[in-house]
Amino acid sequence: MNNHASSGAVLEGLRGIEVPATGEILRAEHLRKTFCPGPQEITPFHDVELAVERGEMIAIVGPSGAGKSTLLHLLAALDTPTSGAVYFAGNALHALHEAELADYHNRAVGFVWQRHHVLSDFTAAENVAMPLWIQGIGQDEALRVAGDWLEEVGLAGRAGQCAGELSGGEQQRVAIARALVNHPVLLLADEPTGDLDERNAEGIFELMQRLHRTHHLTSIVATHNLSLARRADRVLALEHGRLAPGAERLAGIAAGAARPAGGGGTSLGERG
Ligand SMILES: Nc1ncnc2c1ncn2[C@@H]1O[C@H](COP(=O)(O)OP(=O)(O)OP(=O)(O)O)[C@@H](O)[C@H]1O
Ligand SMILES: [Mg+2]
Repeated sequence: MNNHASSGAVLEGLRGIEVPATGEILRAEHLRKTFCPGPQEITPFHDVELAVERGEMIAIVGPSGAGKSTLLHLLAALDTPTSGAVYFAGNALHALHEAELADYHNRAVGFVWQRHHVLSDFTAAENVAMPLWIQGIGQDEALRVAGDWLEEVGLAGRAGQCAGELSGGEQQRVAIARALVNHPVLLLADEPTGDLDERNAEGIFELMQRLHRTHHLTSIVATHNLSLARRADRVLALEHGRLAPGAERLAGIAAGAARPAGGGGTSLGERG
């Protein structure tokens, strides 16, 4: 198993990119994203600035449509900004060559989606092993590593079960194990508890916090769940096209407009 990403070291596979053990790891400068340029264009944000320290857990809140998912996609290099730039360990993502970009996706970033995205006809272990197979790691070794990860996310004994037979919360645990199996530096999660009831949402967030600590991750989590967001090291609000400190705003909203919401906790601008 590759463990290089967990300390200050050259990230294997990323053409010698030096990953600092402390200090700034991710930066976004003047990010603007416009969809469908023209008279009908949509610009969820026009000037996002972000600096993330290694080891931080950041929650991004904001009304539906503010661009939280879009921003995570830009940070993960799953999409490109209309203008502005994202830097990982000082390296501009837009300057990475195709193979380096593939390495960034496979080695630097683990992504967790709202709807777990597990392959239901494959077993839990096969789902987790998949990124390792893609790296060329042999079947038996990959399944062994996947089994260890399933144990770590609380699914010991479920390795051979078809992922489609697992509950939503269990499938999200599989998705988290799969996101982390390559020991990424960054964990990006887009409403990872959005489809879960309060108890499961709590469990998934606690698991993410534990893994964040034990694997020295840098985590950015978009969420509508304010009570979970408050547990992050830093809360940022994406609104009116910019990212701003969100803690005070959170406190005001929670005090004035607390209401029960899907996935538990209070909610900020959730879709109706
Ligand atoms: N591929 C796309 N093409 C056109 N418009 C898009 C595309 N992706 C997102 N948008 C638009 O960009 C805006 C921001 O969308 P995004 O999904 O990032 O918001 P969000 O903050 O994640 O919302 P939610 O909280 O509901 O998940 C929305 O108006 C959306 O319709
Ligand atoms: Mg979204």
